[in-house]
Amino acid sequence: MHQVKLGIIGGGTVGGGVFDALKRNGDLLSARIGVGLEIVRVAVRDLKKARASKFPAKLLTADWREVVYNPEIQIIVELIGGTTTAREIILAALKLGKPVVTANKALLSAHGEELFAAANKYGTNLYYEASVCGGIPIIKTLREGFVGNRIDALYGIVNGTCNYILTRMKLEGADFAAVLADAQRLGYAETPPDLDIDGHDAAHKTGILASLAHGFWVKPKQVHVEGIRHITALDIQFAQQLGYTIKLLGMVKKVGKYCQVQVSVYPTLIPNAHVLASVNHVFNAVFVRGDVVGDALFYGRGAGKDATASSVLSDLADAALDLTNNTKIRVPPFVSHSCDGSVLPVSEIVSRYYVRLNVVDKPGVMAKISSILAAANIGMSSVVQPEGHEGESVPLILMIHDAKNGAVTKALDKISKLPVIKAKPVMIRVESFA
Ligand code: NAP
Ligand code: HSE
Repeated sequence: MHQVKLGIIGGGTVGGGVFDALKRNGDLLSARIGVGLEIVRVAVRDLKKARASKFPAKLLTADWREVVYNPEIQIIVELIGGTTTAREIILAALKLGKPVVTANKALLSAHGEELFAAANKYGTNLYYEASVCGGIPIIKTLREGFVGNRIDALYGIVNGTCNYILTRMKLEGADFAAVLADAQRLGYAETPPDLDIDGHDAAHKTGILASLAHGFWVKPKQVHVEGIRHITALDIQFAQQLGYTIKLLGMVKKVGKYCQVQVSVYPTLIPNAHVLASVNHVFNAVFVRGDVVGDALFYGRGAGKDATASSVLSDLADAALDLTNNTKIRVPPFVSHSCDGSVLPVSEIVSRYYVRLNVVDKPGVMAKISSILAAANIGMSSVVQPEGHEGESVPLILMIHDAKNGAVTKALDKISKLPVIKAKPVMIRVESFA
């Protein structure tokens, strides 16, 4: 059997997962593809560190160059994360014509255009299935499975850590900080976890999916991002009473104009009847609407050692087969429709809204609020003042009809300045998936 040698750079959660999975299923994978895969070197930062995965000492090195420049090694697997050394490693490997497998969405989001151009220039390929949604093969699906579709909309729960936190807050009333510590211990969170909590990791992934679906590069700055820090147990509870679940949702939606898309990540109220509302814990899901296929749903573990390793193995199989059969760029890494696309500014995004105000409980308050909304041509679909919240100020929940984000933000700013308003309004968008 033809043998392909690989080197892994990074022996942490994912690197260890890939090593263990190849130990467990390497023979099976090789039997299926007809090519043997052998790990020849593994680079880590600290050779003395205790590791859950039992790498033989002879494989380990603290110098990534010993992996990349080893002439025996044909495929480089970058699993260190970050955007500096990882970029250097990948560019060096591509320059040597070596295919690279990476799980690094932060890097692809920041420097993907440069890296894919380098892969093309040096006649090799960059594989990145593990960069989005852990074990769900969503990259392959968009690149290959849906190559004959225009993607009208894509909705994704793409960050395992945030979904894990929101789920446990909802189901157990768990404390945010305690659940985050669990997510870190389980190997789900990025370093630092702010990348997850503040929505940036989800934005990296959503940007990659948007670029892939629409064939033009969506830059990180173009993705409107809001994280989950401001989501409280109170809002989760009110949302539930109104028939919704709060999820951090990545969205890529075609809007009216040719090649104009909404690309955003923000906490969203999802109707409980929608399938995405029941995607819980570390699971991710991507709901894709293609113009030929219609609606399709992909579900699986979005983070963690084994799920992510599964996607790396899939890329390794492709890379090994491409090398063996000399089909290096069988499927271009990014589908290009040569479209001069643009991203819709956040102020133009249209949605429905959940707004929680903290108001002084006295006559005339509602009239003041509704006159500001009416002046901005913003309609309310319902108003709820939950009982049992006695005291000087009480929560008031407004559900707002479809309106532009810019108009709602301005109106809430005015409302927040009313003397009867006791805290900054909480605004969470509502998605109807129409
Ligand atoms: P991790 O557990 O922190 O592991 C990082 C590894 O890289 C460690 O083994 C570290 O060595 C090594 N490393 C760091 N700098 C290095 C350098 N300059 N030279 C050689 N080795 C170096 O991170 P991870 O969770 O495995 O994540 C790796 C990548 O996968 C990231 O891009 C992440 O975004 C992505 N990803 C992670 C998950 C997940 O669930 N964790 C899922 C999908 C994608 P030491 O062990 O000696 O410190
Ligand atoms: N930190 C990421 C998450 C890892 O929680 O989804 C998987 O990409």
